[in-house]
Amino acid sequence: MTEYETHDFDVVIIGAGGAGLRAAIEARSMGLRTALVCKSLLGKAHTVMAEGGAAAALGNVHPEDNWKVHFRDTMRGGKMLNNWRMAQLHAQESPDRVRELEDWGALFDRTEDGLILQRDFGGHRYARLAHIGDRTGLELIRTLQQKAVADGIEVFMEVKVLRLLRDADGVVSGVVGYWRPTGEFVTFTAKAVVLATGGIGRSWTYTTNSWESTGDGVAMALWAGADLIDMECVQFHPTGMVWPLSVRGLLVTEAVRGDGGVLRNSEGKRFMFDYIPPMFAAETAQTEEEGDRWYDDHSAGQRPPELLPRDEVARSINSEVKAGRGSPHGGVFLDIASRRSAEDIRRRLPSMYHQFKELAGVDITAEPMEIGPTCHYAMGGIRVEADTTATTVAGLFAAGEVAGGMHGANRLGGNSLSDLLVFGRRAGVGAAEFASSRTGKVSVDEGQIAAAVDAAIAPFLRENGENPYDIQHDLQATMQSLVGIIRTGSELDEAIGKLDELEERATRVSLSGGQQYNPGWNLTTDLPSMLTVSRCTTLGAINRKESRGGHTRDDFPKPVAELGLVNFVQRVATDAGSDGVVGTPSIRSISATPEPVPVMPDDLKALFEEAP
Ligand code: FUM
Repeated sequence: MTEYETHDFDVVIIGAGGAGLRAAIEARSMGLRTALVCKSLLGKAHTVMAEGGAAAALGNVHPEDNWKVHFRDTMRGGKMLNNWRMAQLHAQESPDRVRELEDWGALFDRTEDGLILQRDFGGHRYARLAHIGDRTGLELIRTLQQKAVADGIEVFMEVKVLRLLRDADGVVSGVVGYWRPTGEFVTFTAKAVVLATGGIGRSWTYTTNSWESTGDGVAMALWAGADLIDMECVQFHPTGMVWPLSVRGLLVTEAVRGDGGVLRNSEGKRFMFDYIPPMFAAETAQTEEEGDRWYDDHSAGQRPPELLPRDEVARSINSEVKAGRGSPHGGVFLDIASRRSAEDIRRRLPSMYHQFKELAGVDITAEPMEIGPTCHYAMGGIRVEADTTATTVAGLFAAGEVAGGMHGANRLGGNSLSDLLVFGRRAGVGAAEFASSRTGKVSVDEGQIAAAVDAAIAPFLRENGENPYDIQHDLQATMQSLVGIIRTGSELDEAIGKLDELEERATRVSLSGGQQYNPGWNLTTDLPSMLTVSRCTTLGAINRKESRGGHTRDDFPKPVAELGLVNFVQRVATDAGSDGVVGTPSIRSISATPEPVPVMPDDLKALFEEAP
């Protein structure tokens, strides 16, 4: 039996991005012994890749903005697949969460009157994104981190969590993992666990996601018996760098378009005017003059089509490139240089200025950027109860990108930062209340710990097996080419065949060296999550035989009304044994079942009948 270190807390939070930090602050404020466990270093999280701002109907720039308009924009952006209650709570509570952040020291950009300044983003009726230049996520993380440390929350960095542990009644009672620097195993027992591990983007070749986003939380919840929803709904952000190749996929913030940047094809044409969908026609400018007027006075014109929701813009760019009107490196051009002064660009978009200057040798105050779609965000994820963030497994909570429902089939830019503040806080409350009501000593099952440890060290006992980097590369290539921005049934079926092979290869990985600082081992222990979430995305995409939001089927190019009324719920047969990915329940037993989306009450429905 392997020796391992143990820690005991009331609430353990896995993931130290915005949602995890906010949950920890709340649970701690309720007097609970709270731990924050993260795979990376504190302060490094995909949250920083929400650069342009946090959406909240503060009404500082446009006083006519309010939570009802924000709610409606979010639901329409999500193509009505959203959990309406989550969207309602989000719209109602995000202003308080942003102001609270300001109280805790976040230095937002200001209006002339000293209020928090708000900028335009796609799909939002009004300038709504509270921001700090183009470094909003970073400032948000810094602020929450400072508060969490000051509040005395214990932080365990560089711990890779392998599995959730459940007691004899099936209630979550902790986690098992290992310290990445030493390779030694560690368990945390807890009365409640919050998953805040972020997204799944590392399964694609071109992604804004950093190495942490391997879908660990989604996969662990599924293996423990939790429901997932709408895993097919993955967002491809329209603007990632396409050149140089070494940084392909890196985010180019939507704030560039929010601040007036426009998209052009190789013929110099502002092509987005050719792609205005009927659903948004009434509120979208039909001419360049009309679109430009809107930046000055939102009531005097219609929004420019560059500010359509991300799914629309990403698909349009894809079509232009496919039609042979792309840029030299396979994207299109994003032009802010001809639209704003060099001084404004450097002041409002300092990170973008430096990013292009240093990585591509491009001066964005003088030249256009080459950009193209990049995998950015998972709308699908763990099914949660809106008010408490409770999952379908007792003792387990989830918040932020790891949770599904809030954003439906497509997320509006800026709604992720406000989502993680609103539901991070709610997860802290939900977990703390559950932990407080749980009596007696929490027990863990030594058998579950041993199984996770054995599976993790097995590759060291094999020889001449597979290289984990080859599997990762082939997985990313499969997801990029067969489960990307445009999907078809035959390619999705082909992807399932390839995933079967990759899962089988993953059982044959062999490793040399020790467990200390071993990146090959670290990747090997990420592969089960990556393979699991990739299968879930593909399975969901096969089942959703329509196009909706971020999920586009070439063979079913239109939305289907009946499918807009269902979430695809995925579950694994936890008693099916392990025949696929190392040490997990058989992920080939995952089922995808349509279940009705929660019905919206009449007073909220009525909001969609009002004028835009
Ligand atoms: O484009 C951006 O700044 C990303 C923001 C977001 O994903 O919310």
